[in-house]
Amino acid sequence: MFERAAIDARCVLVHVETAPFPRDSATDSEEFLELGHSAGLDVQAQMRLRRRVPHPRFYFGRGQAEQLQQCCASHEVRLLVLNVDLSPSQERNLESLLQCRVLGRTGLILDIFAQRARSHEGKLQVELAQLSYLSTRLVRGWSHLERQKGGIGLRGPGETQLELDRRLLTRRLQTLQRRQAQMESQRTQSRNRRKEWFHVTLVGYTNAGKSTLFNRLTGSEVMARDQLFATLDPTHRRLLLEQGRETILSDTVGFIQDLPVELVRAFHSTLEEVRDCNLLLHVIDCSAPEYERQIEQVRDTLEQIGAAEVPVLEVYNKRDRLTADELSREKGHTSRRVWVSARTSEGMDVLRQRIAQHVLAESSCQYVRLPAQAYPLRAELYRLGQVEEERFTESGECEMRLWLPLSRWPQYVQFQVPKPAWSQGSASSRRLSLE
Ligand code: GTP
Repeated sequence: MFERAAIDARCVLVHVETAPFPRDSATDSEEFLELGHSAGLDVQAQMRLRRRVPHPRFYFGRGQAEQLQQCCASHEVRLLVLNVDLSPSQERNLESLLQCRVLGRTGLILDIFAQRARSHEGKLQVELAQLSYLSTRLVRGWSHLERQKGGIGLRGPGETQLELDRRLLTRRLQTLQRRQAQMESQRTQSRNRRKEWFHVTLVGYTNAGKSTLFNRLTGSEVMARDQLFATLDPTHRRLLLEQGRETILSDTVGFIQDLPVELVRAFHSTLEEVRDCNLLLHVIDCSAPEYERQIEQVRDTLEQIGAAEVPVLEVYNKRDRLTADELSREKGHTSRRVWVSARTSEGMDVLRQRIAQHVLAESSCQYVRLPAQAYPLRAELYRLGQVEEERFTESGECEMRLWLPLSRWPQYVQFQVPKPAWSQGSASSRRLSLE
């Protein structure tokens, strides 16, 4: 486990540039430095090294390893953090050569997640990810020793310890997996309950401003901070739109380039919610120099989790940070794209309208007849949908033609009737086009 205390915060950060060269590595480095800050590292020095082919033993060649050694010694640090992942044996060899702890990119991201997890489920998911990461390393480490074993009598205490660690780890992993399965079934139940609502989910690159936007739209106070992965646990709130229409809005974990597979696996059920929703608000920090690359990363992740088919509304956030020149180049709102500032509230009205349009686009228009004793439902239908026509019959029934979200109609199926003679309009099951 990655005990916080075990990570001495003072460190040297190493940006390794890998082939093919050249590529724009400045932004990668900036993002990695930001990851380091998010993990609470106290970066004493940064180094940039190029490596075309990793050295099988230390990842780095002799000369580069010496450079690293000198840098760690002169800054008196006991921790070296790399933006790449080494194999378990490379990590071990480098650690013993440098006499210093080596942490790769996956270990760093897992550590940030461990610090951020608040809820019981979030903590469980992170621990699961950490242990599965550790187990591959331990198992490989162990088999590596086993190969060297050679015969009776050579079984040393170190190996016994490893064997014991592996057994404990496997047991803990099994316990966590069992608990996760229980939580997943609870999650499925609450997800089914939410199915009757039009469900909107915020996704985006980490730090794009999802939580700030969530708070702005729903009037909540979810933690929003200038740090990566501030939100880990999905949060759901009601979102009220024009004419009293309601939807559910969810905030989720932020994405990042090459999200470690262990995390994607452990957060599978959280990410599955993204796949099941009706509309994704893809929040983009349009002031980030590399925002186009971030957009691609998010799209890739959505594809990876099977959410590529969910309708997307792109929300270009932080427009207050753009210069007048940049603003003049901005292409303006379209049906698929809005420009907002969650900080200053600019563009919020347009965003709400667009969400409402999407709700309507996923609606169908039908006729209902409510007997007098079902009148209380009338107010509900006005709240949930858009009533186009209404007439009271002589026997005191209320007939309506109205649009309701597709997900809502099954609840009112017993009141549905064919077109009455008085109606000027017609029923429509077509989803509206937003083009
Ligand atoms: P993760 O939890 O890492 O995924 O981040 P997030 O996408 O939820 O971002 P969050 O809302 O935590 O915001 C990140 C930082 O951006 C915070 O410092 C916010 O105050 C800031 N921020 C969010 N929206 C805006 C905006 O419209 N303009 C400006 N200038 N800053 C913003």
